[in-house]
Amino acid sequence: SNIDMEIGAMDKGAYDYFMLKEIHEQPKTIEETFRGRLQNDYSEIVLGGLLNVFPKIEAAKRIVIIGCGTSWHAGLIAEYLFEEYAQVSVEVEYASEFRYRKPVLSSDDVVILISQSGETADTLAALELAKSKGATVLGICNVVGSTLSRETEAGVYTHAGVEIGVASTKAFTAQVTVLTMIALKLAKRKGTISNETYKVLVKELAEIPEKGRAILDDGEKIKAIAEKYHEAVNALYLGRGYLFPVALEGALKLKEISYIHAEGYAAGEMKHGPIALVDNNLPVVVVAPQDDYYEKVVSNIQEVKARKGNVIAIVTEGDKGLKEMVNDVIEIPKSHPAVAPLLAVIPLQLLAYHIALLKGCNVDQPRNLAKSVTVE
Ligand code: AGP
Repeated sequence: SNIDMEIGAMDKGAYDYFMLKEIHEQPKTIEETFRGRLQNDYSEIVLGGLLNVFPKIEAAKRIVIIGCGTSWHAGLIAEYLFEEYAQVSVEVEYASEFRYRKPVLSSDDVVILISQSGETADTLAALELAKSKGATVLGICNVVGSTLSRETEAGVYTHAGVEIGVASTKAFTAQVTVLTMIALKLAKRKGTISNETYKVLVKELAEIPEKGRAILDDGEKIKAIAEKYHEAVNALYLGRGYLFPVALEGALKLKEISYIHAEGYAAGEMKHGPIALVDNNLPVVVVAPQDDYYEKVVSNIQEVKARKGNVIAIVTEGDKGLKEMVNDVIEIPKSHPAVAPLLAVIPLQLLAYHIALLKGCNVDQPRNLAKSVTVE
């Protein structure tokens, strides 16, 4: 097929799979994504593609974000960012649902469509629906010249480079990077963020590549964790706040490429159902860095441990308390909570990768899945 020919022509370099290569490219691709956009010692964010539409975005009472799969997860992170910093109400929708609803939209609304490929059928149908209602339609996509990029009024490219692995990795972190820049820029223009917080966040964003490199340099440790859990039948992923969508994304990665049934949950929802699944066969991956939710997440972990679940915790470097409490820890460098998804997702990508590899799965081309879903 065409895709096989394309894959054959691409170079995996030193890596066994494109997915692993793409995971490791992330420090570089995130840099590419903010190259030329974080200016003047990072004091200014310039998004040329949105220049003309910023007044409309500023005036919007509501922003609707639409995507599928991983792109939808990036949208969920944006919801937290836009609400907290730009003080605008946000709804995040699955394109496949949105396109068949009777959404209440008008020319006051701004709709942001997110798609790596820019060719996902449901996302394009949602775009047409939003357009027909007179909304301002913006695109965030990776493939230059794709249908989404051509059919939207304005937009921002993610510049992650060609992504071959069906499981999206570097495109996701690029999407989140772009959405963070849009949220901060919007907040600055609206005056809903203090100069100080703005500076702190831009600096934190700029520091992500270096911190990402540190996680990747230590990535081999995750192999040993994968060895322990690759025979699991189910897995649960938990997170709160900015890291709830990361839990969803971690679960999606695992199920896509290893065929282990995995579910992501907001940690606070655990007691409303999923806790019933916890026993000594269940790996529970908890994203638990030291942020405002830390104490709450720790008590969620205690609830899992009390039921003999196996906890793999993603923790802030140097965290001692959790090391004693859980089965396995993966450390990530300290960061501001608003940019933490960009770091916390990396170990989850690697965990899924190593588990899938141990199970002998075709990591780059998992069964039943296509890189871009151009049919319904
Ligand atoms: C991600 O790992 C998946 N393969 C899938 O969920 C994907 O994100 C989804 O199909 C959306 O694709 P798009 O970003 O190209 O629109």
